[in-house]
Amino acid sequence: MSDNAALIGGFVIIRYTVAMQDDIDKVLFGTDRIATRVAELGREIMDAYGERADSITIVPIMTGAMIFAADLIRQLPARLKINLMTVSSYPGASIRTQGSKILEQQLGDVHGRHVLLIDDILDSGGTLKLVIPTLKKLGAADVHTCVLLRKDRETAREVEVDFVGFDIPDEFVIGYGLDYDNLYRNLPSICTLKKEVYAPEAAVTP
Ligand code: IMP
Ligand code: MG
Repeated sequence: MSDNAALIGGFVIIRYTVAMQDDIDKVLFGTDRIATRVAELGREIMDAYGERADSITIVPIMTGAMIFAADLIRQLPARLKINLMTVSSYPGASIRTQGSKILEQQLGDVHGRHVLLIDDILDSGGTLKLVIPTLKKLGAADVHTCVLLRKDRETAREVEVDFVGFDIPDEFVIGYGLDYDNLYRNLPSICTLKKEVYAPEAAVTP
């Protein structure tokens, strides 16, 4: 077994590197809780679409939705298609949106399809407000939305979403696909980041 692995209750648990471990503030949702909710979301989505589920085109918004979408699509036992879209709103080391921009579309033909947009988190709502009309213009039969997390902010509450995993406080979160400066996406849990990582000046007590 490697140095960063421990055998706990018969399971090999991978411990993160010290640098990674040190940056985490607290765990909001662990792996079991996420898996349970993602399975429930899968059932909610299948029930909502019924027979139309075989005409779904899943559009995960890259890169943040990558891990959530990978888990969610395996809870959707329908003959669906997947097409990617890359949107940037938090370039580099930012913790507030800098305005959403579509960087890349690999949408194929969404004409007449039931598009289900998948995003990691609903914050300002800028991403969904940008992407939904784009998909409608491309001729989607309808566009629905599924976000794993929704922040407790007025701007987020103003945007209507069809499926939500968890409502969370207005805090900056990382893990399970969510990043800060393109780091921490590989954390299996959803965590908050220590303030000294993203605002070193603010965290220093005089
Ligand atoms: P919105 O466009 O402001 O609703 O934000 C949506 C996008 O911003 C998400 O897809 C994320 O990529 C990013 N984002 C918003 N809040 C957070 C956060 O707390 N952690 C990491 N990324 C976030
Ligand atoms: Mg995103």
